[in-house]
Amino acid sequence: MNTPVLDGKVALITGSGRGIGREIALRLARDGARIVVHFSGSEAGATETAEAIRGNGGEAMTFRADISKRSEVRALFAAIDAQFGRIDIVVNSAGVSTGGPLADFDEEHLEWMLGVNLRGPLYVASEAAKRLGEGGRVINLSSTLADFPMAGSGIYSATKSAVKSFTESWAKELGKQGVTVNTVIPGATAPGMMDNSPPGAREFFEKASPFGRIGTAGEIAEVVAFLASPQASWVSGAHILASGAANA
Ligand SMILES: NC(=O)c1ccc[n+]([C@@H]2O[C@H](COP(=O)([O-])OP(=O)(O)OC[C@H]3O[C@@H](n4cnc5c(N)ncnc54)[C@H](OP(=O)(O)O)[C@@H]3O)[C@@H](O)[C@H]2O)c1
Repeated sequence: MNTPVLDGKVALITGSGRGIGREIALRLARDGARIVVHFSGSEAGATETAEAIRGNGGEAMTFRADISKRSEVRALFAAIDAQFGRIDIVVNSAGVSTGGPLADFDEEHLEWMLGVNLRGPLYVASEAAKRLGEGGRVINLSSTLADFPMAGSGIYSATKSAVKSFTESWAKELGKQGVTVNTVIPGATAPGMMDNSPPGAREFFEKASPFGRIGTAGEIAEVVAFLASPQASWVSGAHILASGAANA
C-alpha cells in the first residue's frame, strides 16, 4: 500500500466543525494528516468531525477559539504545540458573511466581519509563520465575491479581497522558509454559507454556472488537498478559482 501523501504532517483547518472547513478536514485526514479541528460555536460538529477521522483510523484533536481574538489564537497554537509538537498545513477556512445597504451598515457587523475574515486569518498565519518550515503550507479561502462584488456585499467582498493580498504578501515572505501560500476562491458552495442564503440566491448562483448548479464542499476540499500536497511545491502566491466557471 502507498504511504498517504500527508503522512506525518499536522494540519489545522479553522472552522472545521461544519461547512467547507469540515470537508477539508476529512479530506486532508484521508491523505494521512493529523488534524486540528478548530471550532468556535460548533462544538458538536467539531466532535463529530474528529470522531469521523478517528473512525477511519486517523488522528484528530478539537479546540475552540474565536479567531478574531489574538489571545485565543495563541492558545490554539499552544494547544497544537502541546498535542502534536508541530504544524505543517494551515487552512484559513473560517469566515462569516452578511450584507446590506451602504446607507445604513451596522458597525457591530462591520467589526464582526473584520474580526473573523481579516484579523482572524492574520492572527492564525502570524502564529503559523513562527512554526512552519520546509514544505509548509498556508491556504486561504477567499470568494468569487472578492472579484465580482454584488450590491450589498461590499464589506464581505473587501475582506475577501484582503485575503488575496495577504496571500501574495505572505507567499513572498514565507517562501524564504520553504512555505507555499495560496488562495482558493470558491464560488457558491454547499454545505456551507449557501445553506443560509436569502431566497432566490441559490437559483441565481446555479444559473451563473454553465453547469447549472453550485459547487460542493467536497469539490473545494479537493483543490485544497492538491495545494496541501507535495505535488504543489511550486505553486505559491496563486489564487485558484473553483466556481464552475461562474463569475458570481
Ligand atoms: N459556501 C460558500 O458559498 C462560499 C463561497 C465563497 C467563499 N466561501 C468561503 O469559504 C470559507 C468557509 O465558508 P463556509 O461556507 O464553510 O461557511 P459556514 O458554513 O458558514 O461556516 C463558517 C465557519 O466559520 C467559523 N467561524 C465563524 N465565526 C468564527 C469565529 N469568530 N472564530 C472562529 N471561527 C469562526 C464557523 O465556526 P463555528 O460554527 O464553530 O462557530 C464555521 O466553521 C469562508 O471563508 C467563506 O468566506 C464560502
